[in-house]
Amino acid sequence: MALDRLDESLSRELQQLQEEGRSKKPERIISGYLPASGSSGPRYLLEGQTRPFLRMNSNSYLSLSLHPALVEAADRATRHFGVGPGAVRFIDGTFSHHIALESRIAGFVGQPAAKIFNSAYTSNCGLALALSGATTHWIGDQLNHNSIIRAMRIAGVPSQNKGIYRHNDMADLQRCLDEVGPEIERVVVIFDGIFSMRGDYAPIEQIVERCNNYHPKFKDGVITVVDDSHGLGAYGPTGRGTAEYCGVSPDIIIGTFGKAFGVNGGFIAASATVIETVRQKADTYIYTNPLSVADCAAATTALDICAGEEGALILRHLQERTEQFRQGLAALGRESIPGPHPIVPLLVRDTAATLDLVNRLFEAGILAVGLTFPVVPRGDETIRFQVNAAHSASDIDSVLHALRNFRQP
Ligand SMILES: Cc1ncc(COP(=O)(O)O)c(C=O)c1O
Repeated sequence: MALDRLDESLSRELQQLQEEGRSKKPERIISGYLPASGSSGPRYLLEGQTRPFLRMNSNSYLSLSLHPALVEAADRATRHFGVGPGAVRFIDGTFSHHIALESRIAGFVGQPAAKIFNSAYTSNCGLALALSGATTHWIGDQLNHNSIIRAMRIAGVPSQNKGIYRHNDMADLQRCLDEVGPEIERVVVIFDGIFSMRGDYAPIEQIVERCNNYHPKFKDGVITVVDDSHGLGAYGPTGRGTAEYCGVSPDIIIGTFGKAFGVNGGFIAASATVIETVRQKADTYIYTNPLSVADCAAATTALDICAGEEGALILRHLQERTEQFRQGLAALGRESIPGPHPIVPLLVRDTAATLDLVNRLFEAGILAVGLTFPVVPRGDETIRFQVNAAHSASDIDSVLHALRNFRQP
């Protein structure tokens, strides 16, 4: 067997991951969906379990993935053009649905142009590939998403061309800007809009102000980039994300269609020239098939909904349920990180207690995520709840009720 010795080596590596507490548990499998009924929102069935579950761990903040208009749009596009594009974008894999989505998302985030990718992950990699060079210096928040960190490595950014500032610490950002060498021509400051483990947000107005002060110092200036994967659709008065919440837009916006918009795929939105550079230089755009027309049609419809009256109502419901949950946690005396985002962390600050509480919630039919070391620093062990627009007031009450019954050890 050709893989015998490789399998043996890999088994040792897997064993080591397990011993270090870094291995991932087997994945649960969703095997059924029960639509909302009466005062209850939707429930999910899991393979091997008999009871239905309330999902408090979904990124689908606006709960659009089963919206009839999205399903119908995906269905219509598929019947017309088929399930797959047949080639990469440059080899006649570009369909009118790709162009329509690029135009709609650029308009939604208030940028002149956009390019869509298979995911926000590959969008970050694409941007790093497009903008990096020997005289480019990258600066990022310490808690940036893995896709940004990995993007730097894929783009081959050397360590002397990178700076990391302490989470949301503006003085430390300034230190990173001060440390940029005189040979550098282009500085890119990149940060998550909403930090997915905490539900807090980047103070974009302060970041942009700091960067503007340094802009004249470098040939191409200091460019600000937000990855607002968790913010777009779910944050800000009209769901335009963290930039809207902060009242200032960075130069480049990255996002996903796979969270609040309920579909899949990612994008970069910026000036027409940046976007053309991305089209020419981003390997994760060039050498891979694009999204299906079904994804594009569904995402375009999601944006139409978000821009209209129905979207405003859905967003308001999400905001109200989030507030209900946050207030309920506070009334129970539970520690959280304040803010209006539907990612609501419950800080337990102990590994065993976190895992115990997650298990007890599971037994009560509630899915939530326990975050323990090394995902979060020791002492910051957390249960991450995510509210979504399909939750009813009674769903939120039922989670609070369960938490009330499980006294904190
Ligand atoms: C900030 C950030 N960027 C990118 C991603 C990945 O998004 P996608 O699933 O579209 O690749 C995530 C998802 O967790 C995220 O939180």
